[in-house]
Amino acid sequence: SWTMLNIVEDSVEAVRRQVGDGHAICALSGGVDSAVAAAIVQRAIGERLTCVFVDHGLLRKGEAEQVERDFVAVTGVKLRVVDAADRFLKALEGVSDPEEKRKIIGREFIRVFEDEQRAIMADGPVEFLVQGTLYPDVVESGGGTGTANIKSHHNVGGLPDDLQFKLVEPLRALFKDEVRRAGEELGLPSAMVWRQPFPGPGLGIRIVGEVTRERLALLREADAIAREELSRAGLDRQIWQCPVVLLADVRSVGVQGDGRTYGHPVVLRPVTSEDAMTADWARVPYDVLSRISTRITNEVREVNRVVLDVTSKPPGTIEWE
Ligand code: XMP
Repeated sequence: SWTMLNIVEDSVEAVRRQVGDGHAICALSGGVDSAVAAAIVQRAIGERLTCVFVDHGLLRKGEAEQVERDFVAVTGVKLRVVDAADRFLKALEGVSDPEEKRKIIGREFIRVFEDEQRAIMADGPVEFLVQGTLYPDVVESGGGTGTANIKSHHNVGGLPDDLQFKLVEPLRALFKDEVRRAGEELGLPSAMVWRQPFPGPGLGIRIVGEVTRERLALLREADAIAREELSRAGLDRQIWQCPVVLLADVRSVGVQGDGRTYGHPVVLRPVTSEDAMTADWARVPYDVLSRISTRITNEVREVNRVVLDVTSKPPGTIEWE
């Protein structure tokens, strides 16, 4: 729309003024906020922005490609991709405790990002760090503008707070729906613009039990099926999000084809919500649930049972970990 176009243009202009002929870096997460922030800064300073995408191996099917291929194609952003899956998996070996997992993922993310930052700065100084901070985050954190007033819960573990950067926050005045409209205005991939909330620690906190490569592969398939069927049923905008959780330490007996199986259950956790502070379980039509269940148990070996979480928040959180 006309006004959104103005907002984007004003924002580009403001970044141009702030950064001058300086250089900036930005961590992309696959989410809409960092993508829109990066796209705006790219328009303002072009090649003087370097984006870093840390692929921690805990993303869902197609999400890394969306950043590496589609986002770059549309925006022309200069991107460094770090395939850090091995490193994250190694660090997560033997860990089942949810808080421990979150800490490890956050810590590894910071280390990988800092390594990248050092490599980038070997080519010349970088003074600015781009953050996708939204207006509600600004309000929540007391409104101050600092050098690193970073929301730790809503990023991958948060970034280190001893960074020497000046922050560039082109979304500071915007609400989520405005960010999405800006994303459309900028021509970003619609799967990215309309992505439902997804936690920074990714699938790592949707495997109850130890995170392994094999378990991630199972969960990634099951999740892709659930997302596909919910989208096909036109439920994307009604449902806030639908975590799919692999109960990796649970096995139950089943029968598939001509044999007895002893596989894992996955939990569907579709919720409706306004702001994730409270939520209700979504009344997804039975026939949609049925298609999801049939497809997952047919297509994902090792999963022989699909169960539905009918708990509101509170008392249940949206995620299982
Ligand atoms: P809970 O499970 O606390 O989740 O009801 C509320 C919302 O926050 C998301 N979530 C996270 N987002 N990093 C994030 O960026 C995290 O560590 C994290 N943990 C939960 C969750 O998906 C839901 O939308």
